[in-house]
Amino acid sequence: MYRPGNADWWCRSLENKSLNIAKSIWWENGVIHMLDQTKLPAKEVKLHITNADDLIESIKRLSIRGAPALGVAGAYGMLLVADDWKDSSEAPDWEAIKSDLEPLRNARPTAVNLSWAIHRILEEAESQNPANKSEAYHLMKQQAMALHQEDEDRCREIGEYGAELLSDTSQVVTHCNTGALATGGIGTALGVIYAAVMHGKNISVYADETRPLLQGARLTAWELQRANIPVTVMTDGMAAPLMQRENIDAVIVGADRIANNGDTANKIGTYQLAIAAKAHDVPFYVAAPTSTIDTSLESGEDIPIEMRGSDEVIRWGDIPTAPKNIPVYSPAFDVTPAQYIAGIITDVGIAREPYDFSGFIGSEK
Ligand code: MRU
Repeated sequence: MYRPGNADWWCRSLENKSLNIAKSIWWENGVIHMLDQTKLPAKEVKLHITNADDLIESIKRLSIRGAPALGVAGAYGMLLVADDWKDSSEAPDWEAIKSDLEPLRNARPTAVNLSWAIHRILEEAESQNPANKSEAYHLMKQQAMALHQEDEDRCREIGEYGAELLSDTSQVVTHCNTGALATGGIGTALGVIYAAVMHGKNISVYADETRPLLQGARLTAWELQRANIPVTVMTDGMAAPLMQRENIDAVIVGADRIANNGDTANKIGTYQLAIAAKAHDVPFYVAAPTSTIDTSLESGEDIPIEMRGSDEVIRWGDIPTAPKNIPVYSPAFDVTPAQYIAGIITDVGIAREPYDFSGFIGSEK
């Protein structure tokens, strides 16, 4: 398999092809900077976050979102929580910081990358036995930067593996947003699209709008349009008739958490898309970094599903779209059973049925 193997090739190709890829989050001078994704596509507003409460708030209202980007936000967020460690000569109090980090860790429960990042950085920093809080803070900072870089690299690898699955003229359906906005790099499912385009393929994309928060219509369409990749938006219910009438080569989605047996939690609407793909013999792929695999869970039944407030479903801005006092069912994610998944495209290769990640190392949460 051809693998460019280095970031330079990617940088040159990104420029040559004018793939104007956005940046979701970065750390500079003690501040977390991010694009406020709630304002897209109407406005490009940046947030500059200097304390943990504001970060948690921005995560809960989805200014920053997408499992890998939440991992990066968690990593940088630890530095805001541990801000008073920066210049302290006291011995590190690991139990205290673990409990201070709980609200951040639990800000969104389904995307495992958030708790994974916090767990990993704490464990690595503690294992080096820093003499004082200041040393511990600087270790955590190095690890947060490394984790961000790693996420960027993982996206490239996912893209390379996934691009090989697509023909020169593939039409692909995707759901939610899994691109640069959702990760620390070029994306997962959208990373596959970007990589295929960089290798000269003419890919066109159908993006589910992704009710209720419209990450597909607002964010995926925005990203792909900026990158000059043909994209058509449709409502979620239009994917099955599209597959019935058009030649769709693949469905590719991201993941918020993958259990040992391959069952995959992703944005609400993914499961019905997988069923529709199976019914029309369209291969349904999940693209995710290995950091999204939760080896502590045997199956999808154990994945915690975040529930969202009713207003997201029954209001359109200030306008009610359902009668007052109507009960609302609003899980943010669903679980697609492994049997519907033709392959899980990761940064270390493509896993196929029967999935078994139980021996997989390095994803303890
Ligand atoms: O609620 P969101 O917007 O955070 O949900 C995001 C998704 O479901 C993505 O598909 C998933 O996190 C993968 S992002 C590369």
